[in-house]
Amino acid sequence: MEPRRRDKPSLSLPNLSPQAGKRKAGGSASGRALVIEPVLRRRRAPVAAAQRGPAARLDEAVGLTTAIGLDVGQSGIVALKLAHPATYLGKGKVEEMAGLVKTLAAEIVVMDCALSAVQQRNLEKAWNAKVLDRTALILEIFGARARTREGALQVEHAHLTYQKGRLVRSWTHLERQRGGFGFLGGPGETQLEADRRLIEERLAKIEAELAKVKRTRELHRLSRRRVPYPTVALVGYTNAGKSTLFNRITQANVLSADMLFATLDPTLRALRLPHGARIILSDTVGFISDLPTMLIAAFRATLEEVTEADVILHVRDVSREDAEAQRRDVEKVLGQLGIDRHAAGGKRALIEVWNKIDRLDADARLRLKNAAERQPAAERSVPVSALTGEGIDALETTIEARLAAGRVLIELSLDAADGAGLSWLYRHTEVMHKAIDEKTGRIAMTVRADPDKARAVRERFADGEWRTGNNE
Ligand code: GTP
Repeated sequence: MEPRRRDKPSLSLPNLSPQAGKRKAGGSASGRALVIEPVLRRRRAPVAAAQRGPAARLDEAVGLTTAIGLDVGQSGIVALKLAHPATYLGKGKVEEMAGLVKTLAAEIVVMDCALSAVQQRNLEKAWNAKVLDRTALILEIFGARARTREGALQVEHAHLTYQKGRLVRSWTHLERQRGGFGFLGGPGETQLEADRRLIEERLAKIEAELAKVKRTRELHRLSRRRVPYPTVALVGYTNAGKSTLFNRITQANVLSADMLFATLDPTLRALRLPHGARIILSDTVGFISDLPTMLIAAFRATLEEVTEADVILHVRDVSREDAEAQRRDVEKVLGQLGIDRHAAGGKRALIEVWNKIDRLDADARLRLKNAAERQPAAERSVPVSALTGEGIDALETTIEARLAAGRVLIELSLDAADGAGLSWLYRHTEVMHKAIDEKTGRIAMTVRADPDKARAVRERFADGEWRTGNNE
């Protein structure tokens, strides 16, 4: 194994001990880890340039392991001809790694592949350490990063579903008699049955809680309707910098109407951009390659918020070698949600935010800038650094321009006594300008609305004078 050393301090976070039915989602780990990137030789040759090579995959696995608070003692690639059914790695390698685990005093081994329950158990026994496969690692990451109660519940649900699947598959190993004196299970109930029952009970509780949270989400939707600003949603590969960008944009621009959201959901903010557009900025969960299906299922409700957004910001870490592969992974998940920026007639605006340019040298930055300028204006990407603030002004201007492109500007005049009409306009459109016409005594207004609302304005104010046009 080709070793790599990292000397990151380990954080002291709660210990990782996934026990059937008892595990708390959102916990992180502490301790020393060994990270192994197994590469099947026959699969190695046809790696397309755009796919991640083993080194990039290993780098990512190390990054994810560090992100859950583990101290990566050593990491490396292990090439093998085929996956062994009992231990994935061959006997020799298992022994070699056992020595390494001991030398490093590693408590956790990350195997960046999909392990069966049997393989995981056998490796744990051979190494006397906890073994996490890629799905378990991703579940840990999402657990540690869940920012809302709903997120934490969704991850716990996915985690338990994962464990339940493993109980079923590994029953021959787990099946043992609990004996006749168990308090929880009846006489003769096996450990497996008891574990499964605990998991099922917890899953049912989570589902009930999620149903409650769903009602809160509906409340959010209602409050958002009361504030009829367009929504801008942030999506991106995990660690691309979404939260940093979210904080950077919101710091300078938070609106007083934000009180409505801040108390309801920390991932929503109401803002006013520099040229006056008011928006709701929404942060979402990060994406990742091989996103476990149970996580996609659990996050579906959250991700569906993205499908309702007026503008999607796809935040990309362009300083990474596998930036293209990450882009494809994110677009795949967006595709699963029915969002395809290339689809003919797709009216939703998607802006690629090329983040972390501060990590590039001058040449690479210039290349990116030129590449962005060669893109058609309606699809132009924006290079930024969420960390230093570089490019943020340009990004805000681009967001405003894209929003305006899809919205209609309407000038109308209404009777000064039409208080109900006035408040309807404030509720359903973005009021850009309002003044009393001194000659007629009527109220002259300029409002902006999406095409559906614009139609409603026309119907409601059919008597008024109005003119429409595309803004800017
Ligand atoms: P998830 O929560 O996993 O989805 O991650 P995220 O996309 O929200 O990423 P986050 O904002 O947490 O940033 C990940 C790491 O990248 C942090 O260590 C940030 O400080 C760093 N980071 C974010 N933006 C930049 C940037 O523009 N430049 C540099 N150098 N680092 C950045």
